Amino acid sequence: MVQAEPILQISGLKTVFRIAQRDVTAVHDLDLEVAAGETVAPVGESGSGKSVTGLSIMGLLPRGIRRVAAGSIRLRRKDGSTVELQQMDGPDLRGVSGNDMGIVFQEPLTSLNPVYTVGEQIAEPIRIHLGKSRRQARSEAVHRLEDVGIPDPQRRAGQYPHEMSGGMRQRATIAMALACDPALLIADETDHGARCHHPGPDSGPAGPPAAGAWHGHAVRHP
Ligand SMILES: Nc1ncnc2c1ncn2[C@@H]1O[C@H](COP(=O)(O)OP(=O)(O)OP(=O)(O)O)[C@@H](O)[C@H]1O
Ligand SMILES: [Mg+2]
Repeated sequence: MVQAEPILQISGLKTVFRIAQRDVTAVHDLDLEVAAGETVAPVGESGSGKSVTGLSIMGLLPRGIRRVAAGSIRLRRKDGSTVELQQMDGPDLRGVSGNDMGIVFQEPLTSLNPVYTVGEQIAEPIRIHLGKSRRQARSEAVHRLEDVGIPDPQRRAGQYPHEMSGGMRQRATIAMALACDPALLIADETDHGARCHHPGPDSGPAGPPAAGAWHGHAVRHP
């Protein structure tokens, strides 16, 4: 039987930060694969590079201090095409990040903008990536909040992050990561602030990941 191509295929990933004229290798020669519908949970001690791996995949490393990023990160997009993320930049990468792959950050507050309502922030990628109208995107954002178990989602969508509890904010960031129904979901120690189920179409309720792990989850198979 021919095996389907994995959603995510990382080989020889190396991420190096330039700090005070010195090179610090945060991720060294990593190989990792995630198949459709599979949950993979890298486990490692604090500082071993789990978060930096997630940020490397998403293309979200701070530009100024990232000095070298070797290796290959191949992602199968929702349309079935495969892209090499290491060779993508700027607008091309923005079309993939948040659309074909989503990330729930270890620190939920860093991913929520304090000056926009939570509903606006979830609706934005739906408008940009899926081409929905403002009104449709807004209504889908409310559904996403409902999916992650936020009571009274209509009212909550109109609130700013500071008006929500910590667990609710964490759920809202999960809703944001899932907004465009990504092929790959990266959850960086997501259940520290909220016990939350990821309502992927084929996933059912997900148990909490191993302590000290982020996990990638291919939620859709085109
Ligand atoms: N922006 C940055 N600039 C410089 N070094 C960084 C940066 N972010 C992370 N590092 C370094 O990269 C290494 C890996 O960090 P990372 O955050 O990936 O660890 P982790 O495995 O996620 O740890 P934890 O379990 O505590 O979340 C650490 O040595 C850290 O200090
Ligand atoms: Mg981390």
